[in-house]
Amino acid sequence: MPLENMNAMLGKAAGAGYAVGAFNILDYNSTKAVVLAAEETNAPVIIQTSAKTVIFWGASAIISWIRQLAGPSRVPIALHLDHCKDLDLIEECIESGWTSVMIDASSKPFEENLSLSRKVVQMARPKNVTVEAELGAIVGVEDDIHVKQQDSHLADSDQAIKFCEDVEPDCFAPAIGTAHGVYKGVPKIAYDLLEEIAAKIEAPIALHGGTGLADNVFKKCISLGCAKVNISTQLKYAFIDGFVAYHNANNIEYNPLKVIDAQFDALKAGIVEKINLFGSSGKV
Ligand code: 13P
Repeated sequence: MPLENMNAMLGKAAGAGYAVGAFNILDYNSTKAVVLAAEETNAPVIIQTSAKTVIFWGASAIISWIRQLAGPSRVPIALHLDHCKDLDLIEECIESGWTSVMIDASSKPFEENLSLSRKVVQMARPKNVTVEAELGAIVGVEDDIHVKQQDSHLADSDQAIKFCEDVEPDCFAPAIGTAHGVYKGVPKIAYDLLEEIAAKIEAPIALHGGTGLADNVFKKCISLGCAKVNISTQLKYAFIDGFVAYHNANNIEYNPLKVIDAQFDALKAGIVEKINLFGSSGKV
């Protein structure tokens, strides 16, 4: 199937008690793992690229391998640019074939975040590209965005409502206490805030910082209105650990294709597990 934007898949998930997994890919092998995991579970899926990954490989290389893998697939697949502060890169991805983008102007003052996010909606909507926007500051490191604990803050619910009314994002990412990267302690999730925001806005909600959250936390956030769940660090670990574990166990072999296969298996197993946990299996 051709790539689609996030509207139909998130629209179906929101309110239906499940969430679509959004997985940050790193290369061809990890993209293949996401696509085949989605096919195995018969689930819609979002392939995400960080801005850094786009710059590393180039937009045209990425879009060509993604179209090659997603084209013959029978599950709905969206290609989404994760946290991006750079409007030129957002425009390049829109022109190159990404079906969804995230503007992350959350470090800016509220009014500036509003106007930058609105600008991206104006750029994307005529091209049928969906837009995710963020409010609050999610602690941790995602790509080249570093938010220290002392600079992180939750989204404000009144501002969230005004933001969504003004910007009309297709997906809204409020900071609710999750973190990017590896959790150092038990995260304190602001469930009340999530519930309040979900009740008052129309856009489906994205849960960031998925790696390391307990199963019951995912389930509660999904039941309270999260329709998209982001997983990145888990794939980074599987990418490296899957590779290293195979080599350590077979270190006289030096057969790169077998190492790549082992990496693929590690990536895909973790993605399948998350898709099943989020309840999106069979929801095509
Ligand atoms: P993790 O790296 O914690 O899985 O977070 C992913 C994310 O939210 C990407 O935007």
